[in-house]
Amino acid sequence: MPFRTHTLLPRDSHQRDRLLKIFLCLICVFSCVVAYAFVDQAHTPAQTDNQATDTSGTNPHPVRLELPRVEPLSAVAQLGKLLFFDTSLSASGKQSCASCHSPTHGYNPPNALTIQPGGPELKNVGYRPPLSLAYLYRQLPFSIGPDAGDVETPVNLNALAASTRNDPKAKKSAGTAPTALAIVPQGGLFWDGRADSLQRQAYIPMLNPVEMANASEADVARKLQHTRYVQSFAPLFGPAILDDPQQLVSEAMFAIGRFEVEDPSFHPFTSKYDAWLQGRARLTVAELRGLNLFNDPEKANCAGCHLSQPSRDGLPPLFTDTQYEALGVPRNTSLPFNKNPLAFDLGLCGPVRKDLANQTQYCGMFLTPTLRNVDRRSAFFHNGVYHTLKQVMDFYNLRNITPDRIYPRGADGKVAQYNDIPAAYWGNVDTSDAPFNRHVGDAPAMTEQDINDIIAFLHTLDDGYTPSPQPALPAHS
Ligand code: HEC
Ligand code: HEC
Repeated sequence: MPFRTHTLLPRDSHQRDRLLKIFLCLICVFSCVVAYAFVDQAHTPAQTDNQATDTSGTNPHPVRLELPRVEPLSAVAQLGKLLFFDTSLSASGKQSCASCHSPTHGYNPPNALTIQPGGPELKNVGYRPPLSLAYLYRQLPFSIGPDAGDVETPVNLNALAASTRNDPKAKKSAGTAPTALAIVPQGGLFWDGRADSLQRQAYIPMLNPVEMANASEADVARKLQHTRYVQSFAPLFGPAILDDPQQLVSEAMFAIGRFEVEDPSFHPFTSKYDAWLQGRARLTVAELRGLNLFNDPEKANCAGCHLSQPSRDGLPPLFTDTQYEALGVPRNTSLPFNKNPLAFDLGLCGPVRKDLANQTQYCGMFLTPTLRNVDRRSAFFHNGVYHTLKQVMDFYNLRNITPDRIYPRGADGKVAQYNDIPAAYWGNVDTSDAPFNRHVGDAPAMTEQDINDIIAFLHTLDDGYTPSPQPALPAHS
């Protein structure tokens, strides 16, 4: 029934005028509230500590970032650079580190393949997409527990893991420190953290039959002895170095690591987001909304794991907490490895990594990768099952509420949820952190508009943005 105001007005004109004024006043207040709520929703979502609320698109609290110093490469790193790009160090003679980690793609693969072929004829494939090599300069060795970084003490990872087997999972909410002291796997290199230093890591692609495929360390040493820059080793490592194959390979791998740590191209921090943090760029309305949703612990909660804030001492965020999680991403049936229905890549508990095979509470867990330069990648997650950021966002949004949109149906007609992890380990899959804390039938954590805006924000993490020379002035549009 329509709301008919005139019938409510009394006959007495004074009283009527007074009531009319009150009524008009109420309408005024009401429309202000509505207008404010609308503006608030369109431009500046609810204010919390970790939300950017300036509608002009500038950062209301610019920070001074502690960026790595740009200095000339040491002689060892210069040698490492030659090694990194040298295809003569592979069995095929056609592949170098840069073939899968291209400097012009944020050290991601230069092509859209899910898996990069390698081996003597570049015909062999593994089953994980390459990770970016950028922003590893602060990566600590693999550890379990809050005490990352004590490299000297040998740790019994299995004893540590077993002692925390029944601890409740630490909840990860964007913008708040974990409630309990987190005893979690963290740090390390590779999707399963199995290499501790860049030096030790570099041996692996050199000898991996699906990558550079050298038969042995001696084989690598022989190739090093025939490089055009062979004369560079003795001045750096002593005259006997070329006669000691083991030491020669060890120093070469060390040099590659130094190149990855020293060369500014591995950690340029030249994204639009970095410029915005420093008050030297304006985010568009979509990017700003995306950032706020990314940081919102109730909605996307991306920053719960992909950290987005500078540290207290000004270190720029790397968009990873370097911890491991089981997200239960769908099986990638296009991988040759997955042709065998009994084959599962379970990350921390194997099969590539061997030392934590008995710690089944970690089965299915993989590294949280950085999201810097993420849109320069074409295969997402540890099995490369997705190829667009929209697909990734749909996974986060729909995994719990409409699993039939994410997983295929099994032979029994039922939705095969978590179909890339054996049922015994489904309990490891994260169902407590937003946006995974929803249930079938719940409203999604994100609308289509939210998803587009978060993707717009992710684009601001691409390096190569040219910031304004001075802190940006507030915009008028
Ligand atoms: C055929 C492609 C290929 C080549 C060649 C290759 N890699 Fe990789 N790289 C990968 C893949 C795949 C991964 C992820 C493997 C995994 O997690 O098990 C990876 C991971 C890495 C990582 C770990 C990054 C992280 O975020 O943890 C580093 C470091 C690395 N590679 C360095 C190198 C170096 C140095 C070379 C040359 C000596 C090299 N790679 C050659 C494919 C390649
Ligand atoms: C609970 C921790 C957690 C939360 C919350 C989270 N992520 Fe992730 N993210 C991960 C882990 C772990 C992986 C790798 C999982 C795997 O490969 O199995 C990942 C992978 C990704 C990837 C693929 C990157 C690549 O290089 O393959 C993207 C993109 C991504 N996350 C974006 C987001 C966005 C956007 C949000 C918010 C909607 C989000 N993540 C929320 C932990 C998290």
